[in-house]
Amino acid sequence: MTITRRTLLASGAAGALAAGLLPGLPSFAVPPSEDGYDLWMRYRLVADRDVLAHYRAAFTHVVVLGDHAVLRSAGSELSRGLSGLLGRSVPVRDRIGDGAVVVSAKADDTLGPEGFTIRRRADRFDITGGGERGALYGAFRLLQQVQRQRPVEQLNTTDRPASPLRMLNHWDNLNRSIERGYAGKSIFVWDELPGLRERYVDYARVLASVGINHTVVNNVNASAEFLRSERLPGLAALAGVLRSWGVRLWLSANYASPITLTKGGPAPIAVADPFDARVQQWWQDKIDEIYRLIPDFGGFLVKANSEGQPGPLDYGRTHADGANMLADRLAPYDGKIVWRSFVHEGFDDWAEYQYRVFHPLDGQFHENAVVQTKNGPIDFQVREPVNPLFGGLPRTNQMVELQITQEYTGHSTHLCYLVPEWKAVLGFPTYTGSGSGPTVADIVTGVAYDQENVGMAGVVNIGDDRDWTGYQLGAANTHGFARLAWNPRLSADEIVTEWIELTFGLDRQVGSVLKAIMLQSWETYESYTSPLGMGYLTYPLGSHFAPAPTTTQNLSHHTTAAGTGFDRTAATGTGFTGLYAAHWQEIYGSLENCPDELLLFMHWVPYTHVLQSGKTMIQHIYDSHFNGYQRVLEFRSGWGQLAGRVDAARYADIAATFDAHVVEAERWRDTIVSYFYGFSRTVSARGGWLQLAYPGGQLLFGGRANSLAVQVTNATDAERSFTAAVRPVDSSWQVGSVGATVGAGGSATVALPVIPPLIAGLVDLDIDITPAQTALSSRNQTFVITPDAAQCHLALDIGTADSPLVTGYARVSPSTTWSTTRGYGWVGTAPQGRDRGSTWDALRRDFVGDYPARTLRVTLPPGPVRLSALVGDGGPDCPPTIIAEGNKVLAASTDLPGGVFTWIHADLDGGPTGRTADLTLDSEPDRFWHLGALVLTAAP
Ligand code: GCU
Repeated sequence: MTITRRTLLASGAAGALAAGLLPGLPSFAVPPSEDGYDLWMRYRLVADRDVLAHYRAAFTHVVVLGDHAVLRSAGSELSRGLSGLLGRSVPVRDRIGDGAVVVSAKADDTLGPEGFTIRRRADRFDITGGGERGALYGAFRLLQQVQRQRPVEQLNTTDRPASPLRMLNHWDNLNRSIERGYAGKSIFVWDELPGLRERYVDYARVLASVGINHTVVNNVNASAEFLRSERLPGLAALAGVLRSWGVRLWLSANYASPITLTKGGPAPIAVADPFDARVQQWWQDKIDEIYRLIPDFGGFLVKANSEGQPGPLDYGRTHADGANMLADRLAPYDGKIVWRSFVHEGFDDWAEYQYRVFHPLDGQFHENAVVQTKNGPIDFQVREPVNPLFGGLPRTNQMVELQITQEYTGHSTHLCYLVPEWKAVLGFPTYTGSGSGPTVADIVTGVAYDQENVGMAGVVNIGDDRDWTGYQLGAANTHGFARLAWNPRLSADEIVTEWIELTFGLDRQVGSVLKAIMLQSWETYESYTSPLGMGYLTYPLGSHFAPAPTTTQNLSHHTTAAGTGFDRTAATGTGFTGLYAAHWQEIYGSLENCPDELLLFMHWVPYTHVLQSGKTMIQHIYDSHFNGYQRVLEFRSGWGQLAGRVDAARYADIAATFDAHVVEAERWRDTIVSYFYGFSRTVSARGGWLQLAYPGGQLLFGGRANSLAVQVTNATDAERSFTAAVRPVDSSWQVGSVGATVGAGGSATVALPVIPPLIAGLVDLDIDITPAQTALSSRNQTFVITPDAAQCHLALDIGTADSPLVTGYARVSPSTTWSTTRGYGWVGTAPQGRDRGSTWDALRRDFVGDYPARTLRVTLPPGPVRLSALVGDGGPDCPPTIIAEGNKVLAASTDLPGGVFTWIHADLDGGPTGRTADLTLDSEPDRFWHLGALVLTAAP
C-alpha cells in the first residue's frame, strides 16, 4: 500500500504512524480531523523537528522488567504512544540496548506503591515505580511530557499521588441509561458480559493515564440485580480488564439486596436489618462469593436512607451500624465500604441535615469504612459553601464527592470548567484544628488526621458517545478531577494548560484563547444562572437544566417584593451558620462580612442592600446576568478566532456547542432577570428592558390561524410603544404584527397572529419587537405545533378520561376500546392514564402508558399516510417509547428528561382500500412507555 496524503487523512495519521509506516509527516496547515475519542492520549507525531530528532535518538525501544499485567500495560502503552509520537515503531523488546525505556517496579518507602521516578541515564531512560501501578503512572507521565514536547533533558521527575482513593462513581443503570448522564448510554454493556468490548480497555487506559485507581461502575440508586450470582462472572471479566491497568472495580449496593435477591427462593429473608443474623450471613456469603471471582474487588458504595433508598434506619439502626456490618465482612479481603452522607429528608433546611445526622456518629465508623460527603451541604449547585462535615468528622475516614457530570452546571451544553470551583473547595480552611486548618485537601489526603482510607470521588461524565463526555470540552473536567485527586496543589492554570496541550497540541493561540475561556467559564455560568449564592433555581424534580425559579421558592430562596435570600444564620435564621468553626460562624453570620458570593445562601436581604462591591443587591443580580451572557458571546467569538488552528471536525463540534450555549445562557438571563424585576419592580440603573411572558397552556395548530398571547411588561421608567410579531421560521409560515403602548412598569397582553404549516413538531420561535430594543424572553421559546384536526385523517388526544381535550381532537383514554365505527381504540388489555395538571397545555398534560406492551388499533385511509406521535412526561423522566407494527419498528423516542417532549414520525401505507393497523406501544424491558397524541396526516 502506498501512503498518500489522502489515505493518511482518511485513516487518521496515528494509526499509520503507530504501525511504523512513515518516517515523517508533511506539516498540514489545518490538522486532520479528529472525533475526540483519543481524549488526552492522542500520540500524534511530534511537530517540532529538533525535538523529534532528539526523541528518536533517546527512545528506540521499550523493555519491561518483571512479569506483571500492570507492567505489561505500561510497556504496551509506551510502545503505542512513542510509536505514534515519533512516527516510527518503538517496539517492546527483551534486551536493553541504547535508547531503551526500561520499566520496572521496586518497593520504595518514599515513593509508595503508586509513586514513580523517571531518570535519564547515559544511554537509556528508567521508569521505576514503587509498585507496578507506580510504574504505569510513570509511563503515562513520560508520554504526556513527550506529547508536550518537553526537552529530553527535562524529563526527569519523581511524583506520587496525594490521595489514596482516587475514584470514579458511575451512575449507570442496568438498562444502560445514566442518571444525570449527558454522553449517551453507559459504556458498559451489562447483558453482553462476560463478553468484552475493545472500549473497556480504552476506558481502563483513560483512567490509568490520570491515576484513577478505583471505579464504582453502577448507580448509587442501586439495583440489587448487580449482586445477583448470575451477574458476577460478567463483572469479574470487566474487573479483569481494569486490573491490568491498576484499577479496582467496586459496586454500588442496594441495602435491601438480601430481601430482593432471596424473594421467591427457598429461604426468603424479609428484612435488611444489619443486626439480624440471617441478613449478616447473607452478606457474608455474598461477599465470599464476590471475592472468589474478583479477588481485588474494591468494596461497596452505599446510598442508604436517602431519597427513598432503603437503609439501616428502617430498622432503628444508625448509619454507622449499617456501614460497619458490611465493613467487618469486607475487611478480611482488604475491601472497603464507602457510605454516602448525602441525606436531606426531614429538616426544614436541607443544608443542615447531613451534619445533624452524621456529626453525632463521628468515631463510630470502623477503619475500613469511609464516609463520602458532597462538597457542599445541598447538591452540587454552582456555588455552595463547603459542607460543614469537613472538619466536623475528625475521627472518621472521609472522601469528598465532586460532580464531574454537569447536572446543575449546564449538562453538555454550557461550557463550565469546574477545576476552579474544586480548587476553592479543596483549599477551604475549616478552622476546626490548629490555626486555620485543616483544609478539605488536608482531610482527603489523610494529612489532617493521619488516615489512609480517604480520598476523592468524582461522579463521572463518561458515556458511550464517541467523544466520551457528550461535548468535547467536557473531558477537561474528567481530566481535571483526576489531576486534583492526584495532586490538589496543582493550580487550575497548570491543569487546564496540560489538558489543552494534550488535547489540541501546542499552538500558542489555541492555548491562550481556550485557557482564558475555560478559566472564566465557571464564574460565568454562575453569573447568568445563580449569582450571590442564590442556589437552586431549576425545577427540583426535573432534569436540572432550565431555569425555573418559582419552583424553588422556600427550598432555596424566600423571594418577596422586598428582598430575597435564605436566612440560615444562627442569630435569626435556621442556625446553619452555627455548624461551622467560630471563625466561619462570625463571617457567615454577619451581613457585613459574609462574602458576596455566598450572601443569599446565608442571609435574606432587601433588594436595596449594598454589597461589598458597592452595588445594590438587585442591581448586582441584573448586571451579573447581562454581563455573564455577554461573556458567553465572547466565548463563542473567541473560539471563532481559532478556525483553521484546530482540526475541522472538532472545531465545528465545539462551535456548535457554543451556539447552543449562547441560546441557553440567554434563556437563563431572561428568566431570572424577569423573575426579579417581577418581584422587586426596580428598574435597572442601566435603563431597563421589555420582558415577555407566555400565558401557560398555549398550543399552536398547524395549518390554521392562531393568536399567540404574549404578555409584555415594560421594565423601564418611561412609556414604550412598539410592534410585535412572530418571526416566520420559513416561507411556509404566515404571521401578522400587532402594535401596543405600555406605561412604565405596566403590562399588556398582545395576541400575535400566526399560521404555522400543517406539521406536528416542536418549534423554537422568536418574537420581533420594533423598534429594536432589549426584549427578554423574546427568543427561542419552544412551542408545540399540532396539526389542525380538520385537516387530519385522524387526530387523537390521548390521556385520561376527564382532562381537557384539544380542540377538534378525539379522546383516547384507557377505556377507549377498539370499535370499527370509531376507527381507533385499544385491543386487549388497556394501558394506564396519567394527568400532570394544568401547568401544561391540553395535549401535554396527560398521556397513557404502561410497562408491558399494549396495542392501539387505528384505521388507515387508502394510500400513503404519515403517522406522528407525541411522547414525553410533564413529571418525571420519560423512557423510550417504541411504536411497532408486527415485527417492524415504525418509530422510537430516546430517553427524555422530565418536561421534555418530542414528536416521532413514521410513514405507513393504507393500500388500495385502506386497512387497520395494530400499533404496538412498548419501551425497553420493564420501562414505562408514554403516548400523549397520535395523528395521521397526508404523506409529505
Ligand atoms: C441528586 C441527583 C440525583 C442523585 C442524588 C444523589 O439529587 O439529582 O439524581 O441520585 O443527587 O447524589 O444521590
